[in-house]
Amino acid sequence: MAEPLLSVRDLSVHFERPGGFLTKAQPTVKAVDGVSFDIQPGETLGLVGESGCGKSTIGRAITGVARTRGGTISYATKEGPVVDLAAMPRRERARYFSEIRMVFQDPQSSLNARLRVLDVIGEPLRNFGLSRPAEIKERVADLLDLVGLRPEYLERYPHAFSGGERQRIGIARAIATDPRLLVADEAVSALDVSIRGQIINLLMALKARLGLTYLFISHDLALVQAIADNVVVMYVGALVERGPAAALFANPRHPYTAALMAAVPKPQRGDGRPSHAAIRGEVADPANAPPGCRYHPRCLFATERCRVEVPALRPVGASEVACHHAEHIDLNAAARHAPLETNGANP
Ligand SMILES: Nc1ncnc2c1ncn2[C@@H]1O[C@H](COP(=O)(O)OP(=O)(O)OP(=O)(O)O)[C@@H](O)[C@H]1O
Ligand code: SF4
Ligand SMILES: [Mg+2]
Repeated sequence: MAEPLLSVRDLSVHFERPGGFLTKAQPTVKAVDGVSFDIQPGETLGLVGESGCGKSTIGRAITGVARTRGGTISYATKEGPVVDLAAMPRRERARYFSEIRMVFQDPQSSLNARLRVLDVIGEPLRNFGLSRPAEIKERVADLLDLVGLRPEYLERYPHAFSGGERQRIGIARAIATDPRLLVADEAVSALDVSIRGQIINLLMALKARLGLTYLFISHDLALVQAIADNVVVMYVGALVERGPAAALFANPRHPYTAALMAAVPKPQRGDGRPSHAAIRGEVADPANAPPGCRYHPRCLFATERCRVEVPALRPVGASEVACHHAEHIDLNAAARHAPLETNGANP
């Protein structure tokens, strides 16, 4: 296998909540707590898990926005040497963040409404000193073309555009610096369903054309199944399963992965509206994660061992799974009998 473009090892991002004058310090939020995975050049790695599991925090750590508490983020630079972004002084590593860029969920709030499109997309070019001022307009016009927008949009302001167009502007801004890795954090979740497909198609076309690699963060499992090569599943700051997308979706080996998949909306209500099954119980608080396997309070298969012993990630079938009993539990039977709570609402 080729050398990974990015290799994350034992990554931790914790948020301290110190007390104030009259308030006690709150427990540390262990948003990401010892996570490891690789991203191979050219792949789309899907990162899934329920809300609050630490997906965005991983994206922010990789793009240098969140400060890491422990672990390494090894990046194979264009020039060849591998550097640890987590260990580098801020100033030194900053230049690599022209190569690792983020596409955000909400183009409405992620684009500065007071800047013209020319400046929104041109800003990273200026910040990283990648284009001479005289060349920026031409480069931005090319980028607009690349994302399917007309060059006359240059002088307009983001509010003049539809959600889909704004996300195209956000994507143009992300690719302006010729990145190698794009972290797409719920990049289509805020868009109308009718627009999502267009933006996904654009992202996939740009990937092929520009030779990009994606970390694709999403709670939309069907979408991840459609576009990812490999998938990482997170639960409360920890990685519970990782493996090739086809194998993982066909044969999930961790009870949490299976429950997530069972919770995908299905057209099963009598009135024809989609039904949404939720995983039983609540996501645990990352400031107060359960001991042993973090998933044990919600798991149908939990044993005494699960309540005390943290399961290590180990190969099971085609995937790697952090579950003590992965080989011995019948997840298909669980899907048939699991007391999933159906809230009947479209998520
Ligand atoms: N700056 C911060 N300060 C304190 N806690 C934070 C901070 N950022 C994130 N958290 C907490 O860390 C945990 C993980 O958050 P994160 O945004 O990474 O989750 P997520 O998986 O992206 O969720 P979602 O699917 O809702 O986007 C949450 O409990 C969140 O409240
Ligand atoms: S380790 Fe135990 S509690 Fe955790 S997922 Fe496996 S069976 Fe369930
Ligand atoms: Mg998020």
